[in-house]
Amino acid sequence: MSETNEIEIPDQLLNHLGVNDTGFLRRVYSGGLDKYKKHLTRIGFVEKQRILDAGCGFGQWTLAMAQTSKQAIGIDINSERVSVALQLASINGFKNVEFRQATLEKVPYPEETFDAIFCYSVVYLTDYHKVFKEFFRILKKGGDLYICTNGPGWYLYNIIANPNPSIDFCPRWYGLQTFWNTLIRKRNGLSPRTGARVMTPSTTRRTLHKSGFEVAALGAEGTLAIGDDQTLSPSPNYGGTYMGLVNVFEVIARKP
Ligand SMILES: C[S@@+](CC[C@H](N)C(=O)[O-])C[C@H]1O[C@@H](n2cnc3c(N)ncnc32)[C@H](O)[C@@H]1O
Repeated sequence: MSETNEIEIPDQLLNHLGVNDTGFLRRVYSGGLDKYKKHLTRIGFVEKQRILDAGCGFGQWTLAMAQTSKQAIGIDINSERVSVALQLASINGFKNVEFRQATLEKVPYPEETFDAIFCYSVVYLTDYHKVFKEFFRILKKGGDLYICTNGPGWYLYNIIANPNPSIDFCPRWYGLQTFWNTLIRKRNGLSPRTGARVMTPSTTRRTLHKSGFEVAALGAEGTLAIGDDQTLSPSPNYGGTYMGLVNVFEVIARKP
């Protein structure tokens, strides 16, 4: 098992990526994997037999899981990101990790495959009613689900502060589009699969319950601590609210 903290990213891996993706890849790997391992430890998502990183992007969480669990599997709809994650794993000597292109609405694994599912900053892009049912199907009984997702404060922050803009991504436009997607869906019951939608703690909790989960904890991103190591202090990347609106939040749920 690789124990490296810093991940080597060869320049040729960046050649095919757009400006926004290149910036995102550099940001997520800056400072290495230790911060991700700390987060996984705080929420008790370590020492698992088989853990899924659902919507793994460039794979930084998956690699941290590979260092803290027996086997880690990352899936993502974006083949370019999956290919980069695969190459990073191989170049950096990871053996107990797999990456695969797949959608969260139809995960290509049988019932009760995973003892934990981790899903950071993805479900607001999906048809999450379907996705939670799919997570329930592939989790073992007693298995844990972690979700981190975005409340309305995050999109308001994007509109007002315009963080990390690039030539191919405008946070301000993204925030406006997301509010629009959410209103359209509310009005005519559509379930658009393109673009983000605002989620709230109450709808997330309700949808998880409907899918069969028990919600164990819900709070602002980086604040939940249910792992064995209770000495780890919270390390949020975002404020709990922005201008009074719920910002990025996390949930831990269990399949009974
Ligand atoms: C904001 S990124 C987060 C990636 C990663 N979890 C992280 O924390 O860096 C969202 C990811 O979700 C993926 N995604 C969006 N919709 C998806 C779907 N329906 N099924 C699987 N992956 C999806 C995107 O391709 C993208 O890599």
